[in-house]
Amino acid sequence: MTSQIDRAARVYVSGHLGMVGSAIVRCLERNGFTNLLTATRAELDLRDPATVDQWFRQARPEYVLHAAGTVGGIQANSTRPAEFMYDNLMIHATVLRSAWQHPVKKLLYLGSSCIYPRDCPQPMREEDLLSGPLEPTNEAYALAKITGLKSCQYYRQQYGCNFVSAMPTNLYGTNDNFDLESSHVLPAMINKFHQAKLAGSPEVSIWGSGSPQRELLHVEDLAEACLFLLENYEEPQTINVGTGQDVSIAELAALVGQIVYPEAKLVFDRDKPDGTPRKLLDVTRIHHLGWKHQIELADGIRSTYQWFLENLPAKSAAHK
Ligand SMILES: NC(=O)c1ccc[n+]([C@@H]2O[C@H](COP(=O)([O-])OP(=O)(O)OC[C@H]3O[C@@H](n4cnc5c(N)ncnc54)[C@H](OP(=O)(O)O)[C@@H]3O)[C@@H](O)[C@H]2O)c1
Repeated sequence: MTSQIDRAARVYVSGHLGMVGSAIVRCLERNGFTNLLTATRAELDLRDPATVDQWFRQARPEYVLHAAGTVGGIQANSTRPAEFMYDNLMIHATVLRSAWQHPVKKLLYLGSSCIYPRDCPQPMREEDLLSGPLEPTNEAYALAKITGLKSCQYYRQQYGCNFVSAMPTNLYGTNDNFDLESSHVLPAMINKFHQAKLAGSPEVSIWGSGSPQRELLHVEDLAEACLFLLENYEEPQTINVGTGQDVSIAELAALVGQIVYPEAKLVFDRDKPDGTPRKLLDVTRIHHLGWKHQIELADGIRSTYQWFLENLPAKSAAHK
């Protein structure tokens, strides 16, 4: 069912300073939305039920794009599991409950492809959720996010709330986190290659064996998909959002190397964990609805590196 949303509707984007939230704000502005609602963490800590309830009572959002969360790469996930669990549980519990109590027309919740089972058959279909044990390095995050997806279904089932959820693959792009301690694989690689280039190091070390396969979607594509789903998707079942194509970590490192620092030699640090062997989404359902990604990987890496150079001068010159 297609229904164009009134461009003057009050649309709340949670986590609007983050990579996903900021891309959604840019996308909505590009598409003519004039009444966007946002709040910083200092104004609205989404873990606090009373504050969130009061905010919803006053702001009365009609649509919610829920892009706030505590996210990170393997290292952050495996060293801070209690924090990942608590924050993500609370953040969706408060927002979904307030969106029911101060009724919104529709809410879109974001899951993540890393919450599918570790040994999930590939490509991963929406029906595969909860069909096997999770990847141990991000189990706390996955469990918390799964309760968010299920909560959308429970609110729909018990109260008739129009809550839908989407399952984005690994994202990258503008406003990414390039911190080597807590970032995802692609921004970490971009920063590592860049630091090696500044330092004149002949080698760049990559975590793990290089064999795991990863799918990557540019965050501007994801934002367009979120708007598309808000206007075209009404099902209780979550829906995958990805490219349907993957590359090995070794291929990805070679591609980043070509763009950032072609002289560098790649070295694989096999003492570091690989994480899930393969994570490719089956995107048949969203393709059938009529959505497809637009930004190819090499172009996306080039523009992301350019953004990094222009917007993170302190980090991009850290070793000068
Ligand atoms: N990044 C990916 O590859 C990826 C892939 C699939 C799904 N997702 C999902 O997309 C969503 C956003 O991810 P992201 O990559 O955009 O993360 P991000 O860049 O870290 O942004 C998260 C945003 O949430 C806000 N936030 C966190 N805790 C908060 C709290 N207690 N109260 C208010 N705001 C809070 C942060 O505020 P501050 O600015 O104050 O920190 C930040 O603006 C998450 O639900 C994640 O699961 C991400």
